[in-house]
Amino acid sequence: MQVYVYRNEEQVAKAASMIFASVISEKPDAVLGLATGSTPIPTYKRLISLNKDGYIDFSRIRTYNLDEYVGLSPEHPASYRYFMNEQLFDHINIDKNNTHVPSGLGDVEKNAEDYDAAIERAGGIDLQLLGIGHNGHIGFNEPNPRAFIYKTNIITLTQSTIDANSRMFSCSDEVPRQAISLGIGGIMSSKRIILLATGRGKSSAVRDAVKGDITPLLPASILKAHNNVQFLLDEDAACLL
Ligand code: F6R
Repeated sequence: MQVYVYRNEEQVAKAASMIFASVISEKPDAVLGLATGSTPIPTYKRLISLNKDGYIDFSRIRTYNLDEYVGLSPEHPASYRYFMNEQLFDHINIDKNNTHVPSGLGDVEKNAEDYDAAIERAGGIDLQLLGIGHNGHIGFNEPNPRAFIYKTNIITLTQSTIDANSRMFSCSDEVPRQAISLGIGGIMSSKRIILLATGRGKSSAVRDAVKGDITPLLPASILKAHNNVQFLLDEDAACLL
């Protein structure tokens, strides 16, 4: 695992967007694994600018997002499909048919199986972007003794995640209690992974992921077992290293 520390979240976003640019210039039909949440927003803003200025062409890019809430339709403003359209897809020259977010509607177990099969058919993920939860989750793989599940699966969210994500809803009671998430195996099968963390609130999860043992009680710790992973941190997120 390589750890890079930048002055602030803007510098983190700059570094992350340069990694995207280099992966896409080497492989114009690359498969990107994408994340939602507050952390990647500055990176998505930069990708939009790079696309508008002609430095990145998304026309052949395929994307697979990490996760989605169970029970939210793509039109719900707090759904992750809605987020991705708003924050990225609506502003770049990507073919929306090539963008995928797991579906939290209908037979979610079947959706999960189909999602893994679709990623495999696409040839696997070339570059996976991750954030990290305050509790060390990646995707929605929450800390628990059985967190290292290989496949895309249905997760019961912890109270810490419900509280952290309630800012997107009018109250925490509205936050769905379950989500569909790429499994740890799906994440670890990616050819390259970059994890972004900004802000002091992430510092203890980052410290435990970088310095602690590999344990399902801190799911991001598994990334130490991947041979091509970079943590891009701002000084606040790195303050306990
Ligand atoms: C989002 C995701 C989550 C977030 C994490 C951090 O698709 O998979 O693991 O990356 O919860 O969220 P923020 O960036 O909002 O702090």
